[in-house]
Amino acid sequence: MGLCVSFAFLLALMLIISPCLVKSFDYFSLILMWPGAYCEQTNAGCCLPTTGEPAGDFLIKDLITYNSTTGDSITKCQNINFDYNQISGLSHDLETYWANIKCPSNNGRSNWKSKWKSYGVCSGLSQTDYFKTGLNLLQKADIAFHLVKKGIHPDYNLYKLADIKSAIAEGIGAEPLIRCSKGPFNKFQLFEVHICIDSDDSKIIECPVKPKFTCTDEILFHPYRSWMLNDTTKAFETNSNIRLPIDME
Ligand SMILES: *[C@@H]1O[C@H](CO)[C@@H](O)[C@H](O)[C@H]1NC(C)=O
Ligand SMILES: *[C@@H]1O[C@H](CO)[C@@H](O)[C@H](O)[C@H]1NC(C)=O
Repeated sequence: MGLCVSFAFLLALMLIISPCLVKSFDYFSLILMWPGAYCEQTNAGCCLPTTGEPAGDFLIKDLITYNSTTGDSITKCQNINFDYNQISGLSHDLETYWANIKCPSNNGRSNWKSKWKSYGVCSGLSQTDYFKTGLNLLQKADIAFHLVKKGIHPDYNLYKLADIKSAIAEGIGAEPLIRCSKGPFNKFQLFEVHICIDSDDSKIIECPVKPKFTCTDEILFHPYRSWMLNDTTKAFETNSNIRLPIDME
């Protein structure tokens, strides 16, 4: 009897304590990348994933766990192995929206592994839920939709940074952070949109800590076309197999 009571007490104590151990971060930062800018800015270009074409939309680059007091990312909280089988059910969505277009062409798995080992393990979520959370947030944010709604298109034109921010803010209810990169003619271009999500209620919030990114008042929105993706898997095949860029515009 005494043993039973103390066991129940211990169990209750564990239940009270465990949420404190699990919740080791304050907010997520979801980093969405515009592939048109990425392909343009790197000397290496961008590469077609071996799993096929990703979406012609903002792609997930990172889902980072942050401490709002220190303003630092929280990484490698525990050592939990990455097990691809746990997310194989999400493979189509991950290959489409969380694709790695870095060269050389790859299947994305080492990228997902590194996100899981760095930040996923600090999220208090299972591996499946960590990746599902990223995909759901991307869908919820729907950045391209909110931009197009305000007449902001990836059409090589310059747009006011303030207009880009307010178009997104109107759509998601919080002002995003915009990171630029150097594009054509040394002009700054729209590269990444950073959105923050409260770990308590999963609401999109204004980022508690704002890193300084250099942009100009007007930035270029670079077009993105699937032919920009270099297919390095075909690089060592015979010439007859090389796809001609006939779909270039
Ligand atoms: C954030 O960092 C501060 C200072 O190191 C620490 O006291 C706090 O517990 C951390 N918050 C979380 C959620 O880990
Ligand atoms: C495509 O990849 C091949 C092989 O890595 C490289 O030689 C070539 O320069 C790349 N082309 C472009 C347009 O980046």
